[in-house]
Amino acid sequence: MLALLDTMDQFGWATLEGAFGDADSLRLRQECEAACQRGEFKRASVGKGINLEVRDEVRRDQVLWIEPGEGSTEQQHYLDKVETLRLLLNQRFFLGLFDFESHFAIYPEGGFYRPHLDQHTGTRDRIVTVILYLNPNWQPGDGGELKLWTNSGTKTGAFTLIEPRMGTVVCFMSGDFWHEVLPAKHIRMSVSGWFRQR
Ligand code: OGA
Ligand code: MN
Repeated sequence: MLALLDTMDQFGWATLEGAFGDADSLRLRQECEAACQRGEFKRASVGKGINLEVRDEVRRDQVLWIEPGEGSTEQQHYLDKVETLRLLLNQRFFLGLFDFESHFAIYPEGGFYRPHLDQHTGTRDRIVTVILYLNPNWQPGDGGELKLWTNSGTKTGAFTLIEPRMGTVVCFMSGDFWHEVLPAKHIRMSVSGWFRQR
């Protein structure tokens, strides 16, 4: 986790493979699949408040929000890990992060999310994005990579492609880094979350 903080310090974004253990990640994936089969997922929307809308041309994932204190022990275990990260981020960067909101996301075959920033227009409450991937058999060629432009504030120039492998965590400053999910050739699962300020 400290390596993650050092990299965040230097670049504003970081990835860590195997950040969440295989067995734990697999259990989260199984919960994600089961909830999907029970029909609990909803088409993801774009925007906030009265501007909230489902837009097929922007994103094609389905989401299920994780309710702190109401989820499974496995979900709570992930939230506990995230809480440790929150404290470390606050200690090191004085960010005043007070809260974490998160949802499971499923991208169907062909699913994508066009380039965007994670702060909604006119808001600054989402400060740090944290994503955990839940794809045990991901192979090069499966698509669904996270493309992250590494120069703060632009969606041109240098970028990195992050493979959505099970147990990998990526985090970045929500308001600074443009990113997109490239079309997935197979179903792709993850937990997306955001540390927030008041
Ligand atoms: C998001 C997002 C990226 C990913 O949920 O806002 O950009 O790799 N997710 O899942
Ligand atoms: Mn995003």
